[in-house]
Amino acid sequence: MNKDKILQFTSNSLFTFDLKIFNIIDSTNSFLLNNFEPLPLNKDSIPVIAAEIQTKGRGRIGRSWHSELGSGLTFSLIWHFREGVAKLTGLSLAIGVAIIRVLRAFAVNQVNLKWPNDLLYDDCKLGGILVELRGKISGPTYAIIGIGINFNLSLPIKSAIHQNSTDLFQITGRYQDRNVFLSALLLELCNTLSNFEVYGFSYFRAEWISYHAYHGKSVTLFLPNNSFVSGRVDSVNADGSICLLTSSGRHSYSVGDISMRLAD
Ligand code: BTN
Repeated sequence: MNKDKILQFTSNSLFTFDLKIFNIIDSTNSFLLNNFEPLPLNKDSIPVIAAEIQTKGRGRIGRSWHSELGSGLTFSLIWHFREGVAKLTGLSLAIGVAIIRVLRAFAVNQVNLKWPNDLLYDDCKLGGILVELRGKISGPTYAIIGIGINFNLSLPIKSAIHQNSTDLFQITGRYQDRNVFLSALLLELCNTLSNFEVYGFSYFRAEWISYHAYHGKSVTLFLPNNSFVSGRVDSVNADGSICLLTSSGRHSYSVGDISMRLAD
């Protein structure tokens, strides 16, 4: 990855990025969490950490994120919100919208989202989002937003991933320049996050639903207390929770440590 190239492509933006690229790091999210200092609510320069290799890449629900040199894009940024955590429940879903928009701008049209925020192609995982919040309950809040996207996975990495996975090369047959893609993504993230701050997730809700791979499908949700619930996906709500039609009626489930699978 090339810092000058990335910053050159973002140079016309209102935002500037304090970008550091590490050859090797445990996790870009962990780095920002560990070196985090509450900064003034100043969006002039957005801290971004990208890594060629993460030795302890983390995913949602305590999972690992597997990648190796050149296999993808792994980066994190910090965004400051005036609001408290209660207003940010749909944040990770809105970030999914930003990524889909950029993929479509790069003519990758068949990638969809799986609630809350997996990137899927043909039911195989292309990427994921890990949002970790810090700050005061009533705000300001600091969101550490980590994104992993597979560009070209080797067979050993694919077999280390405990679910069906894919990458941009497999989908498009082309090698995508990670620098150009990251620049476009940083710009779209700033646009999306600025709109999210003002309007919340409801601004993105209809677009999110249009990208949902499992809309109207029968699914099983695995809940944190080891129980599960089955139903048909009805919608997502303005707070990012998912609404299922179950045998006992319509029920909503909040974004949290929940995973979802298509029902057998
Ligand atoms: C998931 O699918 O569960 C979320 C995966 C998020 C992975 C990214 S890679 C960059 C950042 N650093 C991490 O340790 N995780 C996120």
